[in-house]
Amino acid sequence: MPFPTQRGRRLRYNPAVRRLVRETRFSPSQLIQPLFARPGSGEEIEIPSMPGQYQLSIDRILPRCERALELGLGGVILFGIPESKDATGSDAASDHGIIQNAVREIKERFPDLLVITDLCLCEYTDHGHCGVLSDGDVENDATLELLAAAAVAQARSGADIIAPSDMMDGRVARVRGALDEAGYYRIPILSYAAKYASAFYGPFRQAAESAPKQGDRKSYQMDPFNAREAIREVEMDIVEGADMVMVKPAMAYLDIISAVKKRFSVPVFAYNVSGEYSLVKAAAANGWVDENTLMMEILGGIFRAGADAVLTYFAPEAATILREEMM
Ligand code: PBG
Repeated sequence: MPFPTQRGRRLRYNPAVRRLVRETRFSPSQLIQPLFARPGSGEEIEIPSMPGQYQLSIDRILPRCERALELGLGGVILFGIPESKDATGSDAASDHGIIQNAVREIKERFPDLLVITDLCLCEYTDHGHCGVLSDGDVENDATLELLAAAAVAQARSGADIIAPSDMMDGRVARVRGALDEAGYYRIPILSYAAKYASAFYGPFRQAAESAPKQGDRKSYQMDPFNAREAIREVEMDIVEGADMVMVKPAMAYLDIISAVKKRFSVPVFAYNVSGEYSLVKAAAANGWVDENTLMMEILGGIFRAGADAVLTYFAPEAATILREEMM
């Protein structure tokens, strides 16, 4: 029916009506906060490229975890900056590695907080690649064994969910097998299934001190210009045993989130990555955008595209707004 019978603006005049008919809603329980753990105590080192984000010693992570619980966040995901790095990233699989120590302390103090561990080697290897090198490139199958050992160490320390982010072929099957063999059949796998070789990870690599010393990640992470390949990657991970899948980054990949959501029935996560955070922070610091409004618009867009949960550095701020404003 045409105008004047139809008037789209009728539902927009009154804020209460706008709220009533809003199509996309999300809650703090769908937001996951990334945290960077480093050795030491009393350490709180701001990451220059990510204002408001810090490398934290475990004692400084604990209050953030308490806050995450108070805000009703879905959980936290931990990244580690180890005391020392080597060619095989051995800290990742050590029972006294940085991540394992962090998880144990967090779960001891806050057993109800959901703790996800990122499973990758790039933060732990001295060359900065996500696996072991042979002839200058990452050796896929040898890397699987290291990932399997690291996954079991993470589960042993008390991690609730293991999230492989390395993009090696066959890692979900290998990690699932290793977890099951060690008795951790109840621990879900959240796979970074469609992870692109993105320039949006720049600030994270400074945060986690994980930039590759040589070369790039294009031989394992996906080409940003591909969409159908994402479907193939997600399908493989589900067949291999992924319980949940992730699309990463989020903002420039909303079509991928939407396609994955339509095609598969597992929960779909999206990672609102470091570069997406830093762009907003930088523009806001210049007074070019309104930070909170833009943050909520971006998160809303990711949920509208079909994400069931979002990993975001904005988690505490967004949760605070959600609780105050009855979105
Ligand atoms: C580890 C990993 C990365 C991110 C999450 N896990 C970096 C990378 O692949 O280089 C990026 C997260 C972000 O940019 O916020 N492989």
